[in-house]
Amino acid sequence: MATTTTTKTTVTRTRKVVAKTGDTKATETKTPVAGGKKKVLFVASECTPFMVTGGLAEVIGSLSKALADTGRYDVRVVMPLYSDIKEEYRTKFHYTGNLYVHLAWRNQYCGVFEYEKDGVKFYFIDNEYYFKRPGCYGYFDDGERFAFFCRSVLEIMPFINFYPDIMHCHDWQAALAAIYLKTNYCFREEYQYIKCLFTIHNIEYQGIYSLDLLCDLFDIYGRYKYLVEYNNCINLMKGAIECSEHFSTVSPRYADEIKYPYYSHGLDPIIRNNEFKLTGILNGIDVDGYNSETDPKIFANFSAEDLSGKAKNKEELQKMLNLPVKSDTPIISMISRLVSHKGLDLVTNVLEDLLQDDVQVVVLGTGDQQYEGFFKYLAGKYPEKMSAQIQFNNELSRKIYAGSDIFLMPSKSEPCGLSQMIASRYATVPVVRETGGLYDSIKPGENGNGYTFANYNAHDMLYVLRQAIGDYHDKERWSALMQRVIKTDFSWSRSAGEYEKLYLEMLG
Ligand code: GLC
Repeated sequence: MATTTTTKTTVTRTRKVVAKTGDTKATETKTPVAGGKKKVLFVASECTPFMVTGGLAEVIGSLSKALADTGRYDVRVVMPLYSDIKEEYRTKFHYTGNLYVHLAWRNQYCGVFEYEKDGVKFYFIDNEYYFKRPGCYGYFDDGERFAFFCRSVLEIMPFINFYPDIMHCHDWQAALAAIYLKTNYCFREEYQYIKCLFTIHNIEYQGIYSLDLLCDLFDIYGRYKYLVEYNNCINLMKGAIECSEHFSTVSPRYADEIKYPYYSHGLDPIIRNNEFKLTGILNGIDVDGYNSETDPKIFANFSAEDLSGKAKNKEELQKMLNLPVKSDTPIISMISRLVSHKGLDLVTNVLEDLLQDDVQVVVLGTGDQQYEGFFKYLAGKYPEKMSAQIQFNNELSRKIYAGSDIFLMPSKSEPCGLSQMIASRYATVPVVRETGGLYDSIKPGENGNGYTFANYNAHDMLYVLRQAIGDYHDKERWSALMQRVIKTDFSWSRSAGEYEKLYLEMLG
């Protein structure tokens, strides 16, 4: 057993590093972080570039880097070691050791791997029984898998000698880390100063389980049932909201919206009860990764100052997708999961009408069969006007962002949305519904950076699309709009500052 001293802004305390059963790592004295940096631990189920199924991964990867770049934070990220993490990364991970993690009657192996990238340290939790499967989610035992993951997050803290000032948990898969901290761990001296921020990226997925699993699976004592119980079930997102010092969503507008039943997927009473500790912070994107000036995957690079390369991207895209090469026909694109809440019911309603105009429409994505089938059908019927790419393809997505003129995102709800920001980086003009982060990031009007419509109504969308198409033919007006679009600042510098402010408030 060794002791080490850690300095907080106001308190100096002694921490004990305790060896766990199966701990193969020596418990040597470890030096605390130098330079008075605040310590932040991100707990998340996915992160670029290691494992990506959606926007969550992009945010974890880019926000952690943006915070580390300030030089004021020691940022670390912990996630599961999925077997789908590519060899090119895996071979670089360093095995730190292993311990055994207790969860109700289970006592499970937990290997810890480490990797440092862009000033951020990543920890990967290894257990083949839970994570040696394709993909991340969708298994009957996801509750148990992420309970093990969250328990491991708390258990590895003495092992890696890192007790964060802020534990920042993302979405329901990380909710139990917040819950365990406030039920089982905060009574231990080392854990008592850790403050927890819980971020909701999508309220639709809450981690709902039968109450029977409370003790046996989740290892939550009966006296804490009230924290996680909701509608006669266990609701892990609700538990994390109750247990965290603060919670946030990924745009200010979404923070408001989820107070209402239309957007809350049943959780609005909990959101309203806790709104005193709710903040909405708009995501940023990795503006170096999405940069029309340097992106090697697009057909020609171009800048805000010289947009001429954009025409080349359009021409090559049309050739690639077997669409007639027509420089004066606007290309309207959608890159999206093909699911209802992305607004596809509006699109299916009026797309055929739109295709009667002089336009080309490109859709990229996978999802519900009814939408995949619909787009394929229209592409077959209008081969000169429509291309349906039913696939997930990062390289093609960049070519479409760069080669189209208008980017359509008519979501029914959208916590933040990143695609409208990415499209903007390639001077492609967004047409969006005014909801969540779409409302916060895209503003219509003379000095705006896109087109918007308020009601979830197919003909409102069609009206605005036709307005955009009309403006497209006014070359001067359109080129001024493209300038404003590509110059909109979607970098993390602003949003990371807001997280920083929030962390500091939480730390008092
Ligand atoms: C979820 C949301 C999306 C958001 C992303 C990152 O995927 O659906 O709107 O941009 O998380 O926060």
